[in-house]
Amino acid sequence: MKIRTLFVGIVAATFSAIAMAQAPIVIKFSHVVAADTPKGKASEFFAKRAGELTKGKAKVEVYANSALYKDKEEMEALQLGAVQMLAPSLAKFGPLGVKEFEVFDFPYIFDDTAELHRVTQGPIGASLLAKLEPKGIKGLAFWDNGFKSFSANTPIRTPADLKGKKMRIQSSKVLEEQMRSLGALPQVMAFSEVYQALQTGVVDGTENPISNLYTQKMHEVQKYLTLTNHGYLGYAVIVNKKFWESLPADVRGQLEQAMKEATVYANKLANEINEADLDRVKKSGKTTVYTPTKDEKLAFKKALAPVHVKMADRVGKDLLQSIYKETGFDPNKL
Ligand code: LMR
Repeated sequence: MKIRTLFVGIVAATFSAIAMAQAPIVIKFSHVVAADTPKGKASEFFAKRAGELTKGKAKVEVYANSALYKDKEEMEALQLGAVQMLAPSLAKFGPLGVKEFEVFDFPYIFDDTAELHRVTQGPIGASLLAKLEPKGIKGLAFWDNGFKSFSANTPIRTPADLKGKKMRIQSSKVLEEQMRSLGALPQVMAFSEVYQALQTGVVDGTENPISNLYTQKMHEVQKYLTLTNHGYLGYAVIVNKKFWESLPADVRGQLEQAMKEATVYANKLANEINEADLDRVKKSGKTTVYTPTKDEKLAFKKALAPVHVKMADRVGKDLLQSIYKETGFDPNKL
């Protein structure tokens, strides 16, 4: 009887050891937007390719829509190792102490994605990602969403139309200054709370790429949307550095390959999704979509130009100049 018990014990232990040896490395990827957004789709694509390329050795679990953590909490969770991967908006790295990322929030600094990619996909982008390492974070890639537009419950034709409006922003000092320079009252708020804040009138308006506006149904609680395209919103895909470096080299290499492919996919898809969602917003008939004339756009550019001067020191003058060099933007020549 004793020998039988021992035998059963050994068999059970062997099986659980085999199961452990085969258990995949789980990578929890948390984000705050809907699954049908550029980031939502790119993270699912990455999860699929990671599974395929590692032949099941790594399993990426994607948690969308703030299901696990809200904006601030997810950064803390990554540093503590409660999740392994995130893709926060570039406007959300200030609280972490990496203020340089707020350079992407400078109004009208990029005219289009070609200019933007010269920065994100080149040496400037690489040096920005390297700034995360002392925080225990490794930056893997930049993923696009798109250009933001203002929405509110009153028409927005001129910068003066936003005067006195309470406007929700992400946690960026540059965005704070942007709203102040329009005479608006900036309110930092987690993304998951914006819909309700707009619905109940806690804030009057906000700024978003259309995919975020549409998938959170913000167009149902905002009567007016003006296609100002005044600033960029994109992401840095980041991992817990200790976790990343502890991965077997072959698995890490395969995950890097999956990330490369996901980045190409993300940056190709983002514009298509934003265009399609703009059509959906228009068709919904719930919000009036206005395209500003050239002169109206110039008035916004001029009203927002002082942000470049006021916030240069926050991101570093050298960094700002190196981006101007890539994009040709000059706030003094508008
Ligand atoms: C926001 O808070 O508005 C965005 O950063 C959300 C996102 O991740 O796109």
